[in-house]
Amino acid sequence: MTKNTFYVTTPIYYPNDIPHIGHAYTTIAADVLSRWHKLLGKKVFFLTGTDEHGEKIELAAKEKKMTPLEFTNQLEKRFREAWKKLEIEFDDFIRTTDEHHKKYVQELITKVNDKGDIYLGEYEGYYCVPCETYWTELQLIDGNCPECKRVVQLLKEESYFFRLSKYQDKLLDYYKKNPEFISPKSRQSEIINRVKEGLKDLSISRTSFKWGIPFPLDTKHIVYVWFDALTNYISALDKNKNFDEFWPCDVHLVGKDISWFHKVIWPAMLLSAGIELPKMVYSHGWWTVEGEKMSKSKGNFVILDQAIEEYGADALRYFLLRELPFGLDGNFSFKALNDRYNNELGNDLGNLVMRVNALATKYCDGIIPQASANKKLESDALKLQNELNKYYNTLEFNKALDILWGYIRSVNKYINDEKPWELAKNNKTAELATVVNSTAHALAYIAHYIEPFTPLTARKIAEQFSFKLTTFKDLKWGFLENKKVNKATALFARIEAKKQEKIEGIELLNLKVAKVIDVKPHPNAEKLYTAQIDLGTEKRQIVSGLVDYMSADEFKGQNIVVLTNLKPAKLRGVESNGMLLAGETSGKLSLVLAPKSKPGDQVTIEGSNPSTAQIDFKTFQKIKLTVKNNKVYYKDKELKTKTESVQCNMPDNTKIS
Ligand code: MSP
Repeated sequence: MTKNTFYVTTPIYYPNDIPHIGHAYTTIAADVLSRWHKLLGKKVFFLTGTDEHGEKIELAAKEKKMTPLEFTNQLEKRFREAWKKLEIEFDDFIRTTDEHHKKYVQELITKVNDKGDIYLGEYEGYYCVPCETYWTELQLIDGNCPECKRVVQLLKEESYFFRLSKYQDKLLDYYKKNPEFISPKSRQSEIINRVKEGLKDLSISRTSFKWGIPFPLDTKHIVYVWFDALTNYISALDKNKNFDEFWPCDVHLVGKDISWFHKVIWPAMLLSAGIELPKMVYSHGWWTVEGEKMSKSKGNFVILDQAIEEYGADALRYFLLRELPFGLDGNFSFKALNDRYNNELGNDLGNLVMRVNALATKYCDGIIPQASANKKLESDALKLQNELNKYYNTLEFNKALDILWGYIRSVNKYINDEKPWELAKNNKTAELATVVNSTAHALAYIAHYIEPFTPLTARKIAEQFSFKLTTFKDLKWGFLENKKVNKATALFARIEAKKQEKIEGIELLNLKVAKVIDVKPHPNAEKLYTAQIDLGTEKRQIVSGLVDYMSADEFKGQNIVVLTNLKPAKLRGVESNGMLLAGETSGKLSLVLAPKSKPGDQVTIEGSNPSTAQIDFKTFQKIKLTVKNNKVYYKDKELKTKTESVQCNMPDNTKIS
């Protein structure tokens, strides 16, 4: 008998990061699985949360003059809000600062200790604070952290160790007997080979900082953050008193960066504690933006809010799982999102809903008629459930969407082939009723099948055709007969229009770094210079009023920031093609500079996408750029190149012009 429960988890996120596309990816995938298994009629438990201990939080809280808990109380909300906007329906949100979790971790450590698997030793290693990870010398890249490339510290401390080495054979045996545990398959050899090379015991306590769970065997120590965090997957069930119902976990979803912790350390901890192992740990690929991993530490992340605001939660959910096979890496681009939105969601699905609604309204008085079904549409719809299920079980979301869209297109084609408008003209009432009846039922099935990916759209289709989304068991072809069709609403308005409206504020400014290569006095104006500048791919001439503030020699050689899309103008008879940025107040002036950047480097705020359209000076004046801490801000965001924040040595609040 197949089990009628399903347990899925996401990693618990570090709350000091801003929720980004990477976090959203795992969480959406978990939500999709959860919703699918609910449609199958199972009892589902979907867990997510935040990982709140560790030195990084301790330090950041101190900087803000808060206690770590006050600090994380503020931050965890950002994740809850993001998940709400994305229609994520989790069953519990665990925080590692929950009292129940802390107690459970201590109990687990006591159990592992009773097994003889913990001993006191001394740990020496290269520690990266932002990544909360110790590295060996061999793992370092140019002496820096291999993950975030930052400086590491050589630390030596007394530490309790977990006998990970003892579990090498047992783990290898488990992998062999449970080939799905390490998923996707392409990741198996990497883990298995590393385990075969031998496992080192793991340091699981720290004394160098305080923000963690007290180590139950020795209160001078706190529990290593990963030992603490991994335990959440069980402590949450223990709190909800549903361990027996849901454990072992069906799928832990993780990013490939944290595979080792989940596929080696976590099962070893469980083996030691005598707890059954999870069935599958699936590690998905990374999203990059311009080839860089998204994380706050690197300042490179796509603003999730922008994607949700412009395209809606459904479109983003759909896009992330459709664009890439789940195990592989890929690059996020708004262009690709836009294409899929317009073509697949708008043209294929959105239009189908409009067409079926229009047919029923026009030819059947807005009521789904009784009729004999088109057998092919019916049997294909029914068959689809098993085919989709196969891909859900292997987490091949893109393939599931592929076959689902094949069906959607086949329904569109059926309407084209049947030409219901001609059937109406020729009074072929029975045939016409078959078309309306069958396409409406096809849509109802489609609404159920897409519900895990696009829950809002599924609800809208259900409302239009007067039905309630239900489990597959209760979904029967024919159930729509005599139901009323409500007014059609466009599901996915085309986006070009929206995009144009969106360009405002900072995105209107195309700012680039330029090197001043030559400076001459202006022939007709004593306060102006005529400068030649290098913009990387082109050279230009600009006129600027700097004579009172610096000599030509001081100006020459500087890496300035230039507004490149300003309408060219003649200033006292000399052409000026662009304008440099500077701050000026009480007779003093400071150029906006980017000394470490290259000519041609774009200057933007995070997540913005500058337009290349020409603007006039008036438009520029409306966009307020100001100085704070010798940096330049648009609203509360710093202007940066890919290597640095741009500088302007003027008092706070000086306006840039
Ligand atoms: N706190 C740990 C996890 C502990 S689980 C017991 C942690 N947190 S995290 O906030 O850094 O990120 C967790 C997960 O976010 C990654 O494993 C991955 O699932 C997801 N992603 C973060 N950046 C990502 C991308 N750029 N692309 C895709 N997912 C990535 O690690």
